[in-house]
Amino acid sequence: MDIFHKTEALLKEIGEAVIPSSEVLELFRIRFLGTKNVLKDVFAEMKNIPSDRKKEFGQLINSVKLAAEERYASEKDKFESTVSSSTEQLDLTLPGDVITVGARHPIQLVRNRIIEIFKRLGFAVEENREIEDDWHNFTALNMPEDHPARDMQDTFFVNFNPDIVLRTHTSSVQVRVMENQKPPIRILSPGRVYRNETISARSHCFFHQIEGLYIDEKVSFADLLQTLDFFAKEFFGKDIKIKVRPSYFPFTEPSAEVDVTCFICAGKGCNVCKYSGWVEILGCGMVDPKVLENCNIDSKKYSGFAFGMGVERITMLKYQIKDIRLLSENDTRFLEQFKSAM
Ligand code: PHE
Repeated sequence: MDIFHKTEALLKEIGEAVIPSSEVLELFRIRFLGTKNVLKDVFAEMKNIPSDRKKEFGQLINSVKLAAEERYASEKDKFESTVSSSTEQLDLTLPGDVITVGARHPIQLVRNRIIEIFKRLGFAVEENREIEDDWHNFTALNMPEDHPARDMQDTFFVNFNPDIVLRTHTSSVQVRVMENQKPPIRILSPGRVYRNETISARSHCFFHQIEGLYIDEKVSFADLLQTLDFFAKEFFGKDIKIKVRPSYFPFTEPSAEVDVTCFICAGKGCNVCKYSGWVEILGCGMVDPKVLENCNIDSKKYSGFAFGMGVERITMLKYQIKDIRLLSENDTRFLEQFKSAM
């Protein structure tokens, strides 16, 4: 019968097919094993086969199918092993993978630069805890309970213990250092601080400060001014001047706030300095004798100065960043711009 011969011919075709490439193998697969393979047409003939030969025919079709599967599997193996062992398949003209290199965060860049400048004046870096007790964050710094100045800083309290706070400033490190070291003391303390403020373009509930503290015999206000003038010129540029305005902090007396000539417009007036020619960069003062005594330092023998600056504030001024939130969102499109900064 013709259909028997036709089917046997397929068996022969499967055994003798020349398959030199994976493309040809794919054609082979479509013809014998694909969704519209030739065996389906053959199988459709089943109804015309006399019943005494149906079984024989069925077995024949089955053997064709098995032969096709076997041939396909063995050829596939061959091509797969050829591809992995042959370098000729490599396309050397393809562009390579781009390797992106990370960059320092702008806050870290500014922090490191400030530390570097003060290190040259002999200041050592002292870091300390962010979760503080009331004594180190407030009381030892001349802010006893009910002192109105406590309201200047909206504090986060730990809810099971009102004695424990997230530090509102790095001035707490002044106390920790003075309790544990003997003068002369000359330290710089960078770190994160927390305040319960509504998050906006201008303020955040956490930010960074750098605290400076210098305690020795005969330290004067002139030493403080000299130190800050040196810092401002090193950080912002040789032509920068500083202006010192009287201010108030409970832990320093006298206290001051320091402005620098606007480094964007060189003092002529622009929107960064709000047309005043000056921008505020830090708070400072002579350490109050009461604070020295709280830390068991003889205030008759020793005196000193302290200052504290906001790293976000200085970073925003330096790079003209208009929204403080950009500094904690970690958007790489923003951060990538600082690759070659400083
Ligand atoms: N701790 C002050 C603040 O957070 C800054 C400061 C530090 C002022 C040291 C004077 C001396 O605002």
